[in-house]
Amino acid sequence: MRNPQLNANGELTHLLTLEGLPSDVIRNILDTADPFVSIAEREVKKVPLLRGKAVFNLFFENSTRTRTTFEIAAKRLSADVINLNVGASSTSKGETLLDTVDNLVAMDADIFVVRHAQSGAPHLIAQHLNTHGRSHVHVINAGDGRHAHPTQGLLDLYTIRHYKREFRDLKVAIVGDVLHSRVARSLIHGLTTLGTPEVRVIGPMTLLPAKVEAMGVRVFHDMREGLAGCDAVVMLRLQSERMKGALLPSAGEFFKHYGLTQKKLTLAKPDVIVMHPGPMNRGVEIDSAVADGERSVILPQVTFGIAVRMAVMSIVAGN
Ligand code: CP
Repeated sequence: MRNPQLNANGELTHLLTLEGLPSDVIRNILDTADPFVSIAEREVKKVPLLRGKAVFNLFFENSTRTRTTFEIAAKRLSADVINLNVGASSTSKGETLLDTVDNLVAMDADIFVVRHAQSGAPHLIAQHLNTHGRSHVHVINAGDGRHAHPTQGLLDLYTIRHYKREFRDLKVAIVGDVLHSRVARSLIHGLTTLGTPEVRVIGPMTLLPAKVEAMGVRVFHDMREGLAGCDAVVMLRLQSERMKGALLPSAGEFFKHYGLTQKKLTLAKPDVIVMHPGPMNRGVEIDSAVADGERSVILPQVTFGIAVRMAVMSIVAGN
């Protein structure tokens, strides 16, 4: 069966997940983002690649970084950007997601950027568009349930490549609530596809998915062992809004065992980079001294997110 994200020529037409995406497609997105990073240093940051196109931001879940950087990215590509106010839209009167989409297509939408609490919602929209003769309209997943957050995965890959150059010798640790994390899933797929030899997940048994080893990762329950010799450490937020029941004794206990402190970080390589997708909970998964410390690249991640999202939108739109 054909990957629903690719057209008959193997070109990216929707971005729904990094799972199963060929490495050349991922590398092409990262390479395309490079010149967009330099654009940010220019006085005029706009290019006309999406002039005349309409990008609709459909965020059915809260967001600070993703929604805003998609908007900046679309504006830098000269697109018209429409931020649907979901709370004030007719979905609150019972309109279905696909009826909303059909109405926005009737307003000449070209790209939908979709965040939804339901895993699979962006995939459903893409399938609907493809099977109703609207394959010229593109869908980009901005995070669906606990399934995938592909542009976050890509900006994480971009950040790692920026600081470490190559993936082939790296040890990368992903720490904390992997079970509920779409960010972790997307990053693991991206890292393994690009040939990272050692991807580690570190966390308590209750916060790691069953059979997570099948994703090509090494599992650690002891943070000190898991951090040893790592080149990059990606901290995850405790996703309490997605937890059913108590999976942890307390936030304080979690920080003691899995919170990243300066002392624990000394076990990683001296030139380790510390990443976090945000939003951060200081004192829960990461100590402020680390979050604001010299090894942290958390804010550069956000900046690279603009260029990566410019790359994704320009590629799916055929530029
Ligand atoms: N990393 C991330 O998805 O952040 P937001 O929820 O603020 O978009």
